Amino acid sequence: MLQRLLIDRIENRILVGITMFVGIMILIGWVAINEGERMRSFTNQFEARSIEFGAELFAANCTTCHGVDGRGIGNFGPALNSPYLFGHNYFASINNQITAINAREAQLIAERDALMQEFVNANDARREQIRARRDEIEAILTGEDGLAAERAAVFAERDNLLNSLQPAIDLGYPQPTVNEDGTVTSVYSRLAFLEWNGSLESFIYTTLVHGRPTSKTYWENAQMVSWSQQTGAPLRDDQLRNLTAYIMNWDKGNAWTIEDALAVRQYPLVPVAGGGEMVASAPPVGTDVDAIVAQLDTVVGDPVRGEQIYNNQQRSQLGARLGCGGCHLNGVAGPAHNAKWDHFFNERSQLPQFAGYTVQKYLVESIVNTGAYIVPGYAAGQMPGDFANRMSLQDMADILAYLHTFSTVDPYVPPTPAEPSAEATPEA
Ligand code: HEC
Ligand code: HEC
Repeated sequence: MLQRLLIDRIENRILVGITMFVGIMILIGWVAINEGERMRSFTNQFEARSIEFGAELFAANCTTCHGVDGRGIGNFGPALNSPYLFGHNYFASINNQITAINAREAQLIAERDALMQEFVNANDARREQIRARRDEIEAILTGEDGLAAERAAVFAERDNLLNSLQPAIDLGYPQPTVNEDGTVTSVYSRLAFLEWNGSLESFIYTTLVHGRPTSKTYWENAQMVSWSQQTGAPLRDDQLRNLTAYIMNWDKGNAWTIEDALAVRQYPLVPVAGGGEMVASAPPVGTDVDAIVAQLDTVVGDPVRGEQIYNNQQRSQLGARLGCGGCHLNGVAGPAHNAKWDHFFNERSQLPQFAGYTVQKYLVESIVNTGAYIVPGYAAGQMPGDFANRMSLQDMADILAYLHTFSTVDPYVPPTPAEPSAEATPEA
């Protein structure tokens, strides 16, 4: 009876069909909605696992240089857990406020100037209005709660911030500069400083894959090597991804505090000038090869100091670490140091390009004008091209004296001030 009423009647059958269809759609919709949630929780778990694995790898491989907390270790490695690596701009909000005040002020001044022009030809009634508006504008510009007062308050906040950052700046956080309009420009991002256009994630990952072969030249105790199996190092690609995830996990977004900047123990070192590293006590030697060679006669080279500069045990007179030995010792990444002097006599001097060269001229040119001649078997552009700015004439003389000590064809005779040109007598 019921069945006949409900199912057998065609209208009811359609109704049941529609109801079931809608029901199924709702069910599917429900599952679909929750699938996203389920996937997200799966992804979160996956990421959490990756960070966990990364933390273990970091503890095992990286803390000796980057610190247990990732805040760096003096002369061993820069902080990674740092507002600088993550590019936090401490002055963003202050800059916005100052820019807004400046814009408002410029707008009001423009309005006032226009009114003053109009004033000349205005009738009395209009002049009355203009005067009233001008007084209003004056009050907004210079009144007690006016823009000038607002600006002074923001400037005070800005200067406070600059002061509290000072200890970090002393440690190598890039020095911010105050612009004419009161805003602050600072290279607050490591990636911007390096002109890296990709993401931070790719920066970290790439550093792990390739290392920083040249970092030895400006880091006293350490070098960032490659960690990738692609280069014969111990870590697999998924492990490098986990390490990257772990480091990325330190990001605090907009919540980086001044304390975070002050907690950093070691900021990245800057290879060339700047970074608070350079303390010049002599002018740079420059790139004029003939002039340098002529001046070399006026100084006595000290091979012992030369060896120390060469091997990064001492800075150049311009406060730079030259790190020649990092590439040249044993000929790892450049011709072996102990062969350089003799190379000239055995090989280079026979080339027409070097007709009329002395060994000094050849070596000076190799150092200050690296592109002039590329030693066969090596790629151009590997030897840094900026030594002319990073060493003095005395540094040059000392390094040449050191290289000379290895010569077998041109025996080294320690120069005496009275007899400076021992090189002139090869058979001595
Ligand atoms: C022997 C010391 C040493 C070890 C061990 C070491 N690093 Fe480094 N790392 C450095 C130095 C030095 C630099 C700075 C290189 C430069 O200035 O070009 C650096 C740079 C980096 C950078 C780039 C930071 C920047 O601001 O340029 C990352 C990322 C990094 N290391 C991650 C790691 C990870 C992850 C590990 C462990 C797998 C590790 N490092 C192990 C010394 C080390
Ligand atoms: C980053 C690696 C690197 C550093 C650091 C470096 N060099 Fe070189 N140097 C090379 C390479 C590679 C070559 C060979 C290619 C060329 O001729 O430019 C070379 C070539 C030379 C030559 C020519 C050698 C020959 O046999 O004819 C001299 C001399 C030299 N370097 C001296 C120095 C001195 C001195 C310093 C430090 C002030 C220094 N280099 C720092 C990589 C380096």
